Amino acid sequence: MQTPKSRHLTWQPGHVTRAERARTLGQRGVTVWLTGLSGSGKSTIAIGVEKLLVESGHTAYVLDGDNVRHGLNKNLGFSPADRTENIRRVGEVAKLFTDAGVIVLTSFISPYRTDRDAVRALLGPGDFIEVYVSASLETCESRDVKGLYQKARAGQIPEFTGISAPYEAPEQPELVLDTGRQTVEESVGEVLRYLEEKGYLTSPA
Ligand code: ADX
Repeated sequence: MQTPKSRHLTWQPGHVTRAERARTLGQRGVTVWLTGLSGSGKSTIAIGVEKLLVESGHTAYVLDGDNVRHGLNKNLGFSPADRTENIRRVGEVAKLFTDAGVIVLTSFISPYRTDRDAVRALLGPGDFIEVYVSASLETCESRDVKGLYQKARAGQIPEFTGISAPYEAPEQPELVLDTGRQTVEESVGEVLRYLEEKGYLTSPA
């Protein structure tokens, strides 16, 4: 937990409630937090869910590790402390989007359980859905979509998750997607079904 540097601040409330935003948008804002190894399929599933949601009239947005590290988090690397700060900032951004009524799909390795639990606590019950995108290291390494595992094995990328840095799998995620066994379409469908069943998707006022 960081100590705030600024003092003498007063929270400024607005006139628009979460319920009003939900009514207008036809959905309840939520953060769907995808976690898993590099190459497990997080981003593919996130953009697949985003596409189907937007096509059906919903407001969804993907926050992706590689993308966010191009901008907001370009000053962060992959040390444990930097990964923690990466996830903390993304958690804060996701909270704002969620409050705005957006269905947020985050795609970050987020290897540390305590960091993910901190985001869960920040967002609160019902606003955070943890999805474990599960694929074995062997599967991810054999895919090696970005060629990073090969570089990591060759010692060219230090602290690479799964090779020389840890990944702590979730203990009680809301959803587990076994991408070693199921297709992208099946995984995308499972996320959408979850959102429907739990009442996040309604229709606009
Ligand atoms: S996290 O651990 O801080 O959550 P994040 O999801 O933002 O990671 O970024 C992971 C992406 O950065 C990977 O998909 C990969 O493309 C790239 N990357 C570069 N270096 C590393 C590394 N040392 N470990 C893991 N991913 C890395």
